[in-house]
Amino acid sequence: MTKTGSGDAQAFYGRWAQLYDLLARKTPGIATLRRRATSACRLEPGDTVVEMGCGTGANLPFLREAVGPEGAVVGIDFTEPVLRRARDLTAPYENVHVVRGDATMPPISGPVDAVIATFVVGMLSDPDGAVDDWCELVGSGGHLVLVNAARSRRWYGPPVNAVFHAITVLSTPPTTKLRYEKPPTERLDERIGKAHDELRENAVAVAHETHAFGVVRLTGGRLE
Ligand SMILES: C[S@@+](CC[C@H](N)C(=O)[O-])C[C@H]1O[C@@H](n2cnc3c(N)ncnc32)[C@H](O)[C@@H]1O
Repeated sequence: MTKTGSGDAQAFYGRWAQLYDLLARKTPGIATLRRRATSACRLEPGDTVVEMGCGTGANLPFLREAVGPEGAVVGIDFTEPVLRRARDLTAPYENVHVVRGDATMPPISGPVDAVIATFVVGMLSDPDGAVDDWCELVGSGGHLVLVNAARSRRWYGPPVNAVFHAITVLSTPPTTKLRYEKPPTERLDERIGKAHDELRENAVAVAHETHAFGVVRLTGGRLE
C-alpha cells in the first residue's frame, strides 16, 4: 500500500471507528457470516490464529471461541482508534492479543494454524503479494480465509451493484474525492479478484461461497 493510501485509511477508520464498530457487529446477517468465516478456518482447541486488519475486533470473540482458552488469537491492524475498541471488546480474554502493525509486514513469525482477513485485501495495493506472504505464515495443513465484498455476478446483479457502488464510494477513503482515475468498485473488484485467485492457486483444497446476493465472497484454502 502506498504511504498516502495507508494514511488515508488510518485517518478514515480512526475517525469513524465507533460507527464502523456498530456496522461491523450489528448489520443484519453479519454475525452469521463471521461465524461462517471462523468455521472455514477449521480451528481446533489450542490452535493459533492471526487476523489481518482486525479493525474493531468483531471476529475476535468467534475466533477465541474456536481455539478455546488454551489457544491464541492475534489481531493486527494499523489504526489505533479501532484497536482500542478491539482491546475493550476482548479484555476478558487473556489469550487474545491485539497488536498495532501493518498486515503487509505482519509483526509475527509462523507457522500459525490459520490466518483470516475479512474486508481488508481491497485496501491493499498488492493484494496477491499479501496473500502469498500470509500463505507462508500458515503452517502445513493450516488455513487462510478471505472474506470480501465485490460486485455481484448474479443475474439480478445490476440493482444490487448500484447500491453496492453507492456504499463503496461513501466508505472508500478519502470520501471527499469526487473524481477517481478508476471507479472504486472496479478497483475493489480487481484487488479482491487477484487476492482470491492467488489463494486458490496456492491452496491444495479450496472452499468458495457467496453471501448477501452474491456481493460477499468467502474463500478458504488449506495450505501444504
Ligand atoms: C473494512 S475494515 C475491516 C475490519 C475487520 N476485518 C472487520 O471485518 O470488521 C478494514 C480494516 O483494515 C485495516 N487495514 C487496512 N490496511 C491495513 C494494513 N496494511 N495493515 C493493517 N491494517 C490494515 C484498517 O485499519 C481497517 O481497520
